[in-house]
Amino acid sequence: MSPARNDPQASVPDPVLETARLVLRVPRIEDFDRYAELLADEQAARYIGGQLPRAPAWRKFLQMPGAWMVQGFAMFSVIEKSSGRWLGQLGPWRPEGWPGNEIGWAFHPDAWGNGYAAEAAQSAMDWAFQTLGWDSVIHCIDPENLPSQRLAQRIGSRKLGPGRLPPPNENTPIDIWGQTREEWFAR
Ligand SMILES: CC(C)(COP(=O)(O)OP(=O)(O)OC[C@H]1O[C@@H](n2cnc3c(N)ncnc32)[C@H](O)[C@@H]1OP(=O)(O)O)[C@@H](O)C(=O)NCCC(=O)NCCS
Repeated sequence: MSPARNDPQASVPDPVLETARLVLRVPRIEDFDRYAELLADEQAARYIGGQLPRAPAWRKFLQMPGAWMVQGFAMFSVIEKSSGRWLGQLGPWRPEGWPGNEIGWAFHPDAWGNGYAAEAAQSAMDWAFQTLGWDSVIHCIDPENLPSQRLAQRIGSRKLGPGRLPPPNENTPIDIWGQTREEWFAR
């Protein structure tokens, strides 16, 4: 565990991860328009709390930079290197009452089907295990959310069983998927 990245008194961490096609960085205000488009899309928002117009989407957007500031980690904004386009958000997420250390994801619909989420997940999983020192990682996935299950499988996670989110999401059906640090580094 790196104190510099997890000490709430420390300055906001600003890690940048790079893959062949992507940059993963802390969210910035210019990411909001594309984030709001994602949340305005009924299908894309269905399993991440539901469709939202811009004003409540703004409040939700602030969760990630807020968590980066006070918790020292949160989901990254995922940017396409070749265009600078915001593709989605992905990374560590551990709110109060959460059933484990999650690597979560949500991508703009125009970014689906390119392997971008899997590529970003490889990098964020490495970062969570190496920099945050996590021993295991979970993904909370609705049993009907097949693209998300395919992604979890693609990165080597397996279904561990049904789980429960804290209020107000206690009635949202979820399965917990995941893997241990040993499983990750054995791949
Ligand atoms: C879950 C989600 C991130 C998955 O996105 P995705 O683009 O399907 O995931 P991947 O990055 O793994 O891409 C895999 C797809 O890209 C295709 N692909 C194209 N080029 C590829 C490449 N170079 N490398 C790998 N895959 C590639 C694959 O064939 C695959 O398509 P398929 O599933 O139709 O076979 C996306 O559906 C999403 O954001 N959904 C809305 C939010 C949500 O539900 N979040 C999860 C809450 S638990």
